[in-house]
Amino acid sequence: MAAIKVITTTFLLFLILYHKFFATGEEEQFIYAVFCGNNIIVNSMVVVTPNGLLHLTNGMAQSKGHAFHPMALHFHECGSNGKVVRSFSASFVFVIHPIAPGVSAQGLTFFVSPTNNLSSAFSNQFLGLLNKKNNGNTSNNIFAIKLDTVLNNNMLDINYNHVGIDINDLRSMDFYNVGYYDNKNGTFCNLILASFEPMQVWMDYNGESKINSVTLAPLHVTKPVWPLFTTTYDLSRVLRNQSYVGFSSSTSILDTHHYVVGWSFGMNQSAPLIDVNRLPELPHLGPKPQSKLLVIILPIATTTFILVIVSAIIVLRWWKMRYAELQED
Ligand SMILES: *[C@@H]1O[C@H](CO)[C@@H](O)[C@H](O)[C@H]1NC(C)=O
Ligand SMILES: *[C@@H]1O[C@H](CO)[C@@H](O)[C@H](O)[C@H]1NC(C)=O
Ligand SMILES: *[C@@H]1O[C@H](CO)[C@@H](O)[C@H](O)[C@H]1NC(C)=O
Ligand SMILES: *[C@@H]1O[C@H](CO)[C@@H](O)[C@H](O)[C@H]1NC(C)=O
Ligand SMILES: *[C@@H]1O[C@H](CO)[C@@H](O)[C@H](O)[C@H]1NC(C)=O
Repeated sequence: MAAIKVITTTFLLFLILYHKFFATGEEEQFIYAVFCGNNIIVNSMVVVTPNGLLHLTNGMAQSKGHAFHPMALHFHECGSNGKVVRSFSASFVFVIHPIAPGVSAQGLTFFVSPTNNLSSAFSNQFLGLLNKKNNGNTSNNIFAIKLDTVLNNNMLDINYNHVGIDINDLRSMDFYNVGYYDNKNGTFCNLILASFEPMQVWMDYNGESKINSVTLAPLHVTKPVWPLFTTTYDLSRVLRNQSYVGFSSSTSILDTHHYVVGWSFGMNQSAPLIDVNRLPELPHLGPKPQSKLLVIILPIATTTFILVIVSAIIVLRWWKMRYAELQED
């Protein structure tokens, strides 16, 4: 037991140092292979679990959560025609723990924002990112990828399981069904966001071509060659030079848990590879185990019920036949 503890502690220490190593200097790239309390800014609802998961919403209804990388990053550089947003990449692993597979609310976003104070954002369909008043306002200077598990007509959603690109507005500029293209044969495989299954997201913005590509895959599938989708939008029209990167999420009447399990980011370079075999242990995921009582009692009750019905029918027929015989006599 003690040995396991020592090994775990050494491992955690290694991971923290690993994070520090990347996080020093110009902050050009970072990786959170494990989260710990003092290397990420969280709001009061968000918890960094003892084993290093970022627990964005903890199952309370109508709640919201935010987490930010503590330092603002600088996104602009001087191009030949004035300021441009540099290329950047992010990857993260998330898992949604709904009340039942596919029954979840609401979702989460990965965002770039000029402020690290999103206390005025709303829960529900606002995903802890914006509110009724500022949704759609170009002075938000926010870019986000939303992973949405609810169909909100007022956000012009397409379905209850989609990925969207949001520019200052939760009415997505572009959205797609969740899934990925298989690397071997190119077949599209559907994914369900609210499925208890961890998934990885990659986002790559090219500052020159202005092409943004978004890719998803189940945890142990290597990054698909074909992205889920690409969009072309010049983010220098959106982002401020000094901006924060982070996650937001919200619940509505359904209590849902949203976790980020690992996160990496690269400015003007690829996001460091997340070693999916070394992520902290996931919480118990999967539908609640059926109660033992139900497992034992239900079959017995069903069998008894059937036996009673069958016996009743037999007795009734016997009695009818007997009655008929008596009448004939
Ligand atoms: C962006 O911010 C950084 C850091 O403060 C600064 O060095 C750089 O000159 C700024 N870039 C532009 C284009 O304003
Ligand atoms: C965050 O913004 C709200 C207003 O939206 C303000 O009341 C609060 O003081 C701010 N918090 C911090 C830490 O700046
Ligand atoms: C957008 O936000 C800015 C800054 O908060 C505010 O001054 C402006 O009135 C808002 N515009 C609209 C249309 O609400
Ligand atoms: C493509 O590959 C996936 C997984 O490797 C498999 O499930 C699917 O059936 C394949 N599709 C075709 C058309 O071969
Ligand atoms: C971005 O990276 C390229 C090479 O990968 C380099 O030439 C360029 O100077 C970098 N730009 C900035 C602003 O760091």
